[in-house]
Amino acid sequence: MKIELIDKKIKEIKADLELVFIINKELKHKWINKNDFRNRNFQGETDKTVLVEEKKILYIGIPSLNHENLRVGTSLAVRCLDGFKFKSLKLGLYGEGDGNIQSLTEGFILGFYFFDRYLSEKKKNYLKDIIISTEEFGDLKIESFEKLKKTIKEAEIIARSVNYARDLVNMPPSELTPIKLSSFARDLAKENNLKVKIFGEKYLEEEGMGAFLAVSKASPYPPQLIHLVYKPKKAKKKIALVGKGLTYDSGGLSLNPSTSMTSMKSDESGASAILGVMQAVSKLNLPYEVHGIVGATENVVGKHAYKPDDILRAKNGKTIEVKNTDAEGRLVLADCLSYAQDLKPDYVLDIATLTGAVVVALGEYTRGIMGNDKNLKNSLCKASLDSGELCTQLHFNRYLRPLLKSDVADVSNISSSSFGGAITAALFLDQFIDKKYKDKWAHLDIAGPAFVKKPWGYNPPGGSGAGVRLIIQWLKNLK
Ligand code: BES
Ligand code: ZN
Ligand code: ZN
Repeated sequence: MKIELIDKKIKEIKADLELVFIINKELKHKWINKNDFRNRNFQGETDKTVLVEEKKILYIGIPSLNHENLRVGTSLAVRCLDGFKFKSLKLGLYGEGDGNIQSLTEGFILGFYFFDRYLSEKKKNYLKDIIISTEEFGDLKIESFEKLKKTIKEAEIIARSVNYARDLVNMPPSELTPIKLSSFARDLAKENNLKVKIFGEKYLEEEGMGAFLAVSKASPYPPQLIHLVYKPKKAKKKIALVGKGLTYDSGGLSLNPSTSMTSMKSDESGASAILGVMQAVSKLNLPYEVHGIVGATENVVGKHAYKPDDILRAKNGKTIEVKNTDAEGRLVLADCLSYAQDLKPDYVLDIATLTGAVVVALGEYTRGIMGNDKNLKNSLCKASLDSGELCTQLHFNRYLRPLLKSDVADVSNISSSSFGGAITAALFLDQFIDKKYKDKWAHLDIAGPAFVKKPWGYNPPGGSGAGVRLIIQWLKNLK
């Protein structure tokens, strides 16, 4: 699909179909002919689509003109045309500013995504050209026209990186093994001029990464620590991003029931987001040195499986009592966070499908932001608003901290309370953050939105690519 901006009136543009948004049920606009809705039972209701084929117009109701509504609007447009043979679609700009055109573009690409890798009959995509007209801004200055064109290109990069992450999440677990994930990282590095280092079991042993190693013990596939580096000349800051890469999470010996096990192929969503971000960061030439670190393994049962009652020693020397082998992500992250801090970055962010508790607390659409530093958390909230990836802060407190106490080790891998699990998981991670880094680290729990069961917004079922847009926006906002 190609998206272009053309400096012409919409009537002068040739296309198979025109897309018209009805904003807030406002049917009086010059572009709208009320007769088109006769007998169609349509008043511009939100998310409703009406195709007036004889006039070659597609109407879609959106509740107001904001970025998220535009994103959902264009994604609905491409999705409702599924099965039709229209090859080109034209539309107006819908408001000034980069944000609007960025959202229109993202919606088209995110909405057009489908995962047909394993379908014998591939989806046919007829729609090839999207043409955006500058009609309402007839005397648009040349420089702003060029700027909008650049914004389209950047939005394409970001949305395609989201789709890249979605593809990884959607791959079945016996195909996307830790080794396969590292081969994807290698390819990604080659295509985007990134440096890549990949470490296996031996290195983890040498480095004393006993927590990460324990999780990997039952798997026939070796664990992989993946480290991608993007290093532009004169980088303004150095950022380390850490992703949970559980290519499958069965719960281990604390085995999950079968109904909650399906979809656990998505437990490498944090890692997938990191790979997506690394691709975008390089293609966008951002002025920051960015390190993408992924702990890839799977949590299964087997004769070497780690056990409840085991005591592990992490890379930072702390001992961990295992009370539940299903709380494995935090073990892998503990060692990867130590690795990340050794790089001496300005900030460390981790992203993970870490807890079911965050889904109970916030629902399936919202990410949890946790950490010690108000400013860093606020900057992530700002990126959340700017990118449209919903986030909420969950605050630490003095009463939750002691719930991780263990009688036999420095810390227990689960809380002694069944409540507040998203925050206690983050407090566990905090045990592996050095004093110097306490205020330079934040944690994102994406367990809710990472995997989509029932389609919503611009997300088809499956991996959503959660975190990619958010982190890129956060990097863009950095000063
Ligand atoms: N990967 C899961 C968390 C998860 C749950 C992700 C639902 C996506 C959807 C994680 O490894 C896990 O199993 N967490 C446990 C922790 C518990 C044992 C303290 C959980 O949330 O139940
Ligand atoms: Zn688990
Ligand atoms: Zn997990």
